Amino acid sequence: MTLVRFISADGAEEMEVLAPAGARLLDVAQEVGQPLEGTCEGQMACSTCHVLIDAADFAKLPRASEEEEDMLDLASHVTRYSRLACQIHLTDELESLTVHIPAGVHNMQGR
Ligand code: FES
Repeated sequence: MTLVRFISADGAEEMEVLAPAGARLLDVAQEVGQPLEGTCEGQMACSTCHVLIDAADFAKLPRASEEEEDMLDLASHVTRYSRLACQIHLTDELESLTVHIPAGVHNMQGR
């Protein structure tokens, strides 16, 4: 199991989740009600799964593919620590991964 910490866009809410190794970050986020749409289900056609990885954890992730970088160009509030949650699979190396939900995301109901 891997501990993942989600921080809300305003920083006011924090949620810790234990997820099985190999799980996709987008699936974990959605299962616990985090407001990530992931409209294309990982087909790299939407960028609605954009998340901000904590600076200290970012270097632990495998590099983003060119395709992922291209999709991130379409997301709003992108920073150097931006990634697509559908492309991140949890491993032991990512223990205590801290994930910030970007400002401006909408939940499944579009609110
Ligand atoms: S779910 Fe569409 S790019 Fe990640």
